[in-house]
Amino acid sequence: MKLIIDDAHIDQIKKIYEFYPVDGVTTNPTILAKSGRQPYDVLKEIREFIGAEAELHVQVIARTAEGMMEDAHRIRKELGENTYVKIPSVQEGFKAMKLLHNDGVNITATAIYTPMQAFLAAKSGAAYAAPYINRIDNMGYNGIQVARHIHDIFRNNALKTEVLAASFKNSQQLLELCEYGVGAATVSPDVIFGLVKNQAITSAVDDFIADFEKLVGAGKTMKDC
Ligand code: G3P
Repeated sequence: MKLIIDDAHIDQIKKIYEFYPVDGVTTNPTILAKSGRQPYDVLKEIREFIGAEAELHVQVIARTAEGMMEDAHRIRKELGENTYVKIPSVQEGFKAMKLLHNDGVNITATAIYTPMQAFLAAKSGAAYAAPYINRIDNMGYNGIQVARHIHDIFRNNALKTEVLAASFKNSQQLLELCEYGVGAATVSPDVIFGLVKNQAITSAVDDFIADFEKLVGAGKTMKDC
């Protein structure tokens, strides 16, 4: 399962890239708005930092298929032709997906709450389909189960599309999808930083260091003995 950062704050992205094994960056209009910067300014900075080959996902805004295609062409012109264009999985979106897929555009179908949306997006040529785990949970359904159903639908229909699960609130949700082997998950920085934030882990490491320092002296490590 690929692990992707769902954010547009360059400092957070740089910090996560330094410490964690991540595979790219996803954004959405709300995330861009939270950055407080002009969309292409922040997106170009992210592209430059992660590199030309890395996965970057950017969403269209237009409501019509024609407008979505124009947005898609501009996104690829500004950020590279391999950029994944996120398209909402609605009627106009399926039309845009089919046309863009024919032009070889990488498509991430987004705003997915139901397996039927994902199925139609996959048949329309999306490379990824992004179900919103936590938002589905908040509607009284089971987001993990929906993501698993989508993964199974793709496999049982020989569709190459991968699940790119989004909208996580905790590490348990992420782990369950990792265990199931979905293609990718995109996770906000606060959830990523919390993945191994655990008192037992911190105490174990602190105890090892304290015991070693009793033996060789405070502040000393293996290189000093
Ligand atoms: O791009 C969709 C996903 O990132 C939404 O996450 O946390 O706003 O539900 P969230």
